[in-house]
Amino acid sequence: MIIKPLRKAVFPVAGLGTRFLPATKAMPKEMLTVVDKPLIQYAVEEALAAGIEQVIFVTGRGKSALEDHFDVSYELEATMKARGKSMALIDGIRQKPGSPVYVRQQEPLGLGHAVWCAREIVGDEPFAVLLPDELMVGGFMKQMVAAYDRLGGNVIGALEVPDSETDKYGIISPGKQDGRVTEVTALVEKPARGTAPSNLMIPGRYILQPEVMTILDGQKPGAGGEIQLTDAMAQLIGRQPFHGFTFDGQRYDCGDKGGYIEANLALALARDDIGPRVRAFAQTLLG
Ligand code: UTP
Repeated sequence: MIIKPLRKAVFPVAGLGTRFLPATKAMPKEMLTVVDKPLIQYAVEEALAAGIEQVIFVTGRGKSALEDHFDVSYELEATMKARGKSMALIDGIRQKPGSPVYVRQQEPLGLGHAVWCAREIVGDEPFAVLLPDELMVGGFMKQMVAAYDRLGGNVIGALEVPDSETDKYGIISPGKQDGRVTEVTALVEKPARGTAPSNLMIPGRYILQPEVMTILDGQKPGAGGEIQLTDAMAQLIGRQPFHGFTFDGQRYDCGDKGGYIEANLALALARDDIGPRVRAFAQTLLG
């Protein structure tokens, strides 16, 4: 089996972010900051650290702040330079000319549909998908790429959750397990309590073969009336190698208000500059 190198990553950022209203009425959810960095920047940095060369955003209306974030900011840069301020915090965010690539999802018809909108740019290559509202600390994509380079085919994230939470997620039906790698025999979307085939949920990190785009071509809406990526991935099982990879690190679901606050607190406490102050305040607050 020839394992094609992974060069491209798709970032679906066209969702409406209704769980985070009113913050997301005029501002993209992916621009919410954890401490001082927007979610989208954490995700792009995670992909670049994993060797990704081409960044593809699937955007929609009202998302121009995302595009501006990765562009030159002439006024800001000129003023900062003139005032002798350090550029360290904004250097390196700007991508190389011609990148990122932006494609439009005209209507938020679901994650599967968003990924499909990138089909012309992905072409005949394997590609990663990163959902920026899930913040991963510990370099998840880099670990997944190392697994992909050995296994080929499709490699999706697999994270253990308590039995009481399996009904909230897409769940992996496991085959053979070898350390962090689990063979995937089926995918079940939000199984009813007590029926989950495992407690391995699928987080928002995927490495997929381009054939999933052909499946998405004819995909009908599934759960919630949305075109589901899980349904399309499920059809690849049995035809191509398909594995789950368990991450050694921390996941924060920042599309959810509670998860977002947890991420801010954890990352603030870990910082040398503000950590001690935040810790002292939290201790006072909690008595
Ligand atoms: P979510 O399931 O979190 O949906 O999408 P959402 O619409 O953003 O948020 P809620 O549920 O209304 O609060 C996961 C990721 O997929 C993208 C989102 O932008 C997010 O990064 N997405 C989702 C799209 O790009 N298009 C879609 O049609 C749906």
